[in-house]
Amino acid sequence: MTRIWFPYWVFSVCLLLDSVHVVGLGVNWGTMATHQLPPDVVAQMLKDNGFEKVKLFDADQSTLSSLAGSTIEVMVAIPNNMLADMNDYSKAKQWVRRNVTRYNFNGGVNIKYVAVGNEPFLSSYNNSFTNITFPALQNIQNALNDAGVGDTIKATVPLNADVYNSPDSNPYPSAGRFRPDISGLMTEIVQFLSKNNAPFTVNIYPFLSLYANPDFPVDFAFFDGTSNPINDNGVSYTNVFDANFDTLVSALKGIGYGDMPILVGEVGWPTDGDKNANMLYAQRFYNGLLKKLAANQGTPLRPGYIEVYLFGLIDEDAKSIAPGNFERHWGIFRYDGQPKFPMDFSGQGQNKLLAAAVDVQYLPQRWCVFNPNAKDLSKLGDNINYACTFSDCTALGYGSSCNALDAQGNVSYAFNMYFQVQNQQPLSCNFQGLAMMTTQNASQGTCNFIIQIVSFTSSLRPSAVVLSFILVPMLFLAW
Ligand SMILES: *[C@@H]1O[C@H](CO)[C@@H](O)[C@H](O)[C@H]1NC(C)=O
Ligand SMILES: *[C@@H]1O[C@H](CO)[C@@H](O)[C@H](O)[C@H]1NC(C)=O
Ligand SMILES: *[C@@H]1O[C@H](CO)[C@@H](O)[C@H](O)[C@H]1NC(C)=O
Ligand SMILES: *[C@@H]1O[C@H](CO)[C@@H](O)[C@H](O)[C@H]1NC(C)=O
Ligand SMILES: *[C@@H]1O[C@H](CO)[C@@H](O)[C@H](O)[C@H]1NC(C)=O
Repeated sequence: MTRIWFPYWVFSVCLLLDSVHVVGLGVNWGTMATHQLPPDVVAQMLKDNGFEKVKLFDADQSTLSSLAGSTIEVMVAIPNNMLADMNDYSKAKQWVRRNVTRYNFNGGVNIKYVAVGNEPFLSSYNNSFTNITFPALQNIQNALNDAGVGDTIKATVPLNADVYNSPDSNPYPSAGRFRPDISGLMTEIVQFLSKNNAPFTVNIYPFLSLYANPDFPVDFAFFDGTSNPINDNGVSYTNVFDANFDTLVSALKGIGYGDMPILVGEVGWPTDGDKNANMLYAQRFYNGLLKKLAANQGTPLRPGYIEVYLFGLIDEDAKSIAPGNFERHWGIFRYDGQPKFPMDFSGQGQNKLLAAAVDVQYLPQRWCVFNPNAKDLSKLGDNINYACTFSDCTALGYGSSCNALDAQGNVSYAFNMYFQVQNQQPLSCNFQGLAMMTTQNASQGTCNFIIQIVSFTSSLRPSAVVLSFILVPMLFLAW
């Protein structure tokens, strides 16, 4: 009895899990970190955790090589600062040849999309990319078509939701329209995408709705119900993700493309750097999102499957913090590939820790802290500024994990972050005699004084500094 029963039981559990896991879950793999895990290690994390899709912000060779031979679907990207070049068709053809068709062989990389720019129409870019994005999109898709891969590889433009939301507009999704200053352009882009059977890509950030508007109802940012749903002509909206998505559906409908496929290029919740950026809220957000995705619930105007890429995979300590301190804390994994909190990609709420990065090499267990015997404290301010300018002190801010440190703790935290970024070089723990090294873990309470990892470096990889202005994302929305 048991011998027969047992295998069937195992089998049915597998079936059950299989039938409810989030089909085709994607994630964003950003690389704006001072210390990067080796691409092969990250690629293994993707596989170990069952991700089926990954979205990149470039077409880096070592990243793509790490994905060769896997079935993971890949979105490669052309950064905003290369859009001007892509207005030249011969350069677009060359880009496609070098960064796409080159990997298109049995055992190569399963490239599905090319992202042309990253949120190029953000208001904060002052129209720098307004005139060059659509020609770049056309050239890239045409180059893909000419290369004979256009049937399976589509060019798309990941856009911020601010292309269809103006702060003054009313909150009803059915009233969604494209932003007046770019509505003609958006119409041309949508027509072109439609002609090529390519999807519309949008990034949706409930966290930023909350961040931008102190009066935003907190419950509406999550998925577990609200006492004040929006009633839109009888359609009830209980969360801002649905409302935002359907605003886009309405905007598309308004220009005659109500059925255009929509892909959510980025969605997630940060864990530090703001009073609303913490593990509890992130877990609450992902619990609701994953459950919704697993059930193929869709939105009121688009029930069913939604293709989604979580943002993001790993924390990036070299991102610009112009949008806010939270920018460096979007990872579902820490800088070292350790999972931050339990999740369940089957959407059943059976949270457990994700599979961590394997074989991570750390620097020695050495910290840099304030030297309590230091005499001359007059230079303290300058030294903290210096340390924080060249490392990541965002956890010290209001509402963040290290905000409860005392003055001395603050100094130590800043010194240690700099010391770790500098790969623990002894000279980087001096600070005019104000600092000293220690082998005792300097962490305090919720504040983790990290030990950095041994950085993967490659001559092929542009420096984090160069990258840091490519990606300044999404100042967003007063919903
Ligand atoms: C893609 O192709 C271009 C050549 O057109 C090359 O300069 C670039 O380094 C390649 N890789 C990336 C990440 O764009
Ligand atoms: C956009 O314009 C504002 C105001 O003129 C300026 O402060 C900002 O630096 C500009 N941003 C970019 C990306 O050019
Ligand atoms: C974009 O093109 C329009 C029409 O040709 C022109 O009026 C505008 O100045 C251009 N904008 C930028 C930022 O180059
Ligand atoms: C520590 O630094 C943070 C961020 O600069 C600041 O808000 C806080 O007041 C400082 N704490 C003390 C005790 O100086
Ligand atoms: C230091 O201590 C903190 C808090 O106890 C802990 O979370 C962290 O893992 C420790 N760091 C190292 C490198 O052992």
